[in-house]
Amino acid sequence: MCGIVGAVAERNVTGILLEGLKRLEYRGYDSAGLAIIDDQGQLQRRRAQGKVAEVEKRLDEQPLKGGLGVAHTRWATHGKPSEANAHPHFSSDELALVHNGIIENHEPLRRQLQAAGYAFTSETDTEVVAHLVHQLYQQAGDLTLAVQQALQQLEGAYALAVIHQQHPDRLVCARKGSPLVIGVGIGEHFCASDPLALLQVTDRFVYLEEGDLATLTLNEHHVINAAGAAVERPVSQWEHGNQAAEKGSYRHFMLKEIHEQPAVIAATLEGRLSDRRVLPQALGSAAMELLPKVRQVQIIACGTSFHAGMVARYWIERLAGLPCQVEVASEYRYRDVVVTPDTLFVTISQSGETADTLAALRFARTAGYLGSLAVCNVPGSSLVRESDLSLMTQAGPEIGVASTKAFTTQLTALLLLTLALRRAHHKTEEDALEAELVQALRELPRLSEQTLQLDAAIEQLAEDFAEKHHALFLGRGSQYPIAMEGALKLKEISYIHAEAYPAGELKHGPLALVDKDMPVIAVAPRDDLVDKLKSNLQEVRARGGELYVFADPETLLEPEPGMKVLHLPKVHDILAPILYTLPLQLLSYHVAVLKGTDVDQPRNLAKSVTVE
Ligand code: G6P
Repeated sequence: MCGIVGAVAERNVTGILLEGLKRLEYRGYDSAGLAIIDDQGQLQRRRAQGKVAEVEKRLDEQPLKGGLGVAHTRWATHGKPSEANAHPHFSSDELALVHNGIIENHEPLRRQLQAAGYAFTSETDTEVVAHLVHQLYQQAGDLTLAVQQALQQLEGAYALAVIHQQHPDRLVCARKGSPLVIGVGIGEHFCASDPLALLQVTDRFVYLEEGDLATLTLNEHHVINAAGAAVERPVSQWEHGNQAAEKGSYRHFMLKEIHEQPAVIAATLEGRLSDRRVLPQALGSAAMELLPKVRQVQIIACGTSFHAGMVARYWIERLAGLPCQVEVASEYRYRDVVVTPDTLFVTISQSGETADTLAALRFARTAGYLGSLAVCNVPGSSLVRESDLSLMTQAGPEIGVASTKAFTTQLTALLLLTLALRRAHHKTEEDALEAELVQALRELPRLSEQTLQLDAAIEQLAEDFAEKHHALFLGRGSQYPIAMEGALKLKEISYIHAEAYPAGELKHGPLALVDKDMPVIAVAPRDDLVDKLKSNLQEVRARGGELYVFADPETLLEPEPGMKVLHLPKVHDILAPILYTLPLQLLSYHVAVLKGTDVDQPRNLAKSVTVE
């Protein structure tokens, strides 16, 4: 999704902005650009449709040099991807603005500005804001004040950054509904929609809050809140290192992130387990007070995070004995929701900035829930800040658009939450099942490592898929969401149409599609439902379907004509959804590589969907 970078420094900032844009490429975009107040005090820009490399090419042909600038990667919402629609947008060739999000009242504002004589050169909602700030600046003579007044007229969500030729020493930026951080340097300041964009210049960040507006100069950053009052926001130190943004020896970020899973699962468990139980401090003391009051759980998320929520439902109902509902945020937020008393509202999000999930949380805070808990991977994110409680995953920055390590660490954290809920409701000091699961969790990093050794065998399987147009994924019980996640991964990065079904539903429709051209992938750990799953697989074989089964050796599923079987290490059936995710990730990765798609940045998709 759209990305913002801005800089004010004594040195030339063109390279810093360009590097920042490259670091934001992973979010998904379709055009890019930057604007600089150059050494002659003139506002200049270079923009291009397509990749940041195109902007770089233009800069090689016509270099720019200056100490103040803004840059942007655009993911089209209003107006097609084109150079004219790419940001920065200018007003009267003296003001430049970049914007993430959507301005909902852009049409009346556009008419009003056209009537005032402003000529529009793009189809974007952003250009409206550029002209509006310019118009107000003409009256106010102060850039910060002009932006502040403009924001009062805007409806919708935004993060934006503005520069003006008359003020070569200042960068004004603001956020409401889309993330924005200030990077604090020595005698220089930066802003970006994601701290990753600035790690090459600073590791100190100020996370702006909803409605904040900041003015950045070489030595100072002034923040005012939505009410217009000056506020101090804390400076945080980045603690994830810079190597997360590098691919290292891996061909793609996605492959690197798949192989990081044993380590990040271990990191997510670290300090949270004793020998026989989940430590009470794992979720914080406030959680320990809240969890015994919980009578029901409502989980909300989008995309891959939603699948993590679906697995958690099986766990929470089975292990904690509490009713649990799971829904995608974009549906939940527009439904007439009936809230039952003492329901805990849980959001799951890698980024903590997904617009629909955030909107759902904001609604929930007014709807009578017992409290809210975010399972999230980004500490300073909006979701974490706005929730009562948070349970952090320790996946480190995830760059590949298709989520991998964020998902398995979410599952790990959700199992900890489930066990904490279980303990809060079944107050026995000694809980044999909890002790068994704690032991199994401790073994999970090692088992994940072993499972990833199937890589070469899965790469071979992938060859069967490269020419296929469809695929069907089957699972039962808590493996059904894993089948859904497998299908999502395959369609996201290889563009093969894939669907997931609970295997018991096969004969109610999808069996009609099964033939030799429809590979069927099944996840078959050893659990209560495996014998039923085996019967479902027979139904596929009887119709000439090609089966690919990931199975526990004790299921006695063995390769035979029409059925390829890969065995995973033996794992506790409760934890099987985490382990069985890994081969499905590797399968979609290798199919995508064979098909030559853009694995880390699949077409039309964005890493963090910060617009509705
Ligand atoms: C986008 C990403 C997915 C992700 C989903 C939810 O669609 O491409 O990988 O699962 O957003 O994102 P979140 O950051 O809220 O987990």
